Amino acid sequence: MVELAPSILSADFAHLAEQIQAAERGGGTVIHVDVMDGHFVPNITIGPPVVASLRKVTQLPLDCHLMIENPDEFIPALAEAGANWVSVHYEACRHLHRSLELIEQHGMKPAVVINPATRVNLLIDILPMVHHVLVMSVNPGFGGQKFIPFSLEKIRHLCAIRAELGLEYRVEVDGGIAVDTVAQVVEAGADLLVAGNAVFGDGHPEENARQLLQMARAAAGERLKPAAKQVNIGKNVRENGRPIHRTTSKRKVC
Ligand code: DX5
Ligand code: ZN
Repeated sequence: MVELAPSILSADFAHLAEQIQAAERGGGTVIHVDVMDGHFVPNITIGPPVVASLRKVTQLPLDCHLMIENPDEFIPALAEAGANWVSVHYEACRHLHRSLELIEQHGMKPAVVINPATRVNLLIDILPMVHHVLVMSVNPGFGGQKFIPFSLEKIRHLCAIRAELGLEYRVEVDGGIAVDTVAQVVEAGADLLVAGNAVFGDGHPEENARQLLQMARAAAGERLKPAAKQVNIGKNVRENGRPIHRTTSKRKVC
């Protein structure tokens, strides 16, 4: 099922509780929380104390996207604050496997994020460990940026690998999702849609969330039709010259 994860980065920080509750009434089912440190990305936002406050005003999963250089140091505090999902950047983790294990050990769902310039194939070995993969469709750091079209190919690729390997991770997309891009993101296979500016930007989060979700669900309906796009998934699963499966058959993707 396609779900909407409103990103509070574009919300009115003086009224976070009301803003979140409005987005929830509009159909948002996950709250996306962007944690930035001013080093990994050129912006600073919030940390565990604010996550703890958010925990008191919503029952929805808190999806913490860590755009910080030393994520391992903050995992215990995020767990204590009540975070549910924690995603760490491939580009920020010296020992990604260890970071994902640490998140899991603290009772949260681990996820990995890739920047626009990072290839999907680099994730192959850790995909069985993650609850979701977050595809950045803008460079991280700011809301309201323009969607990068080649992200669509990454979404398709992740869905194809998931089918090929029989895995269950979800594919989340973050950046530039709005009424003009949401359908293509869903058609490519995304099932968790992060939206900040498109939900909170004009001060009408409930209406905006409802409209985005309607468009997403319509596109998801199209995706399920029998003529769904087919992608050759046989030989590209590994880029190190050792494909996991040698078949070149064509299969339907999500
Ligand atoms: C950007 C953040 C996003 C941001 C998306 O670095 O990770 O979650 O809120 O904003 P929009 O939807 O406005 O592109
Ligand atoms: Zn984010």
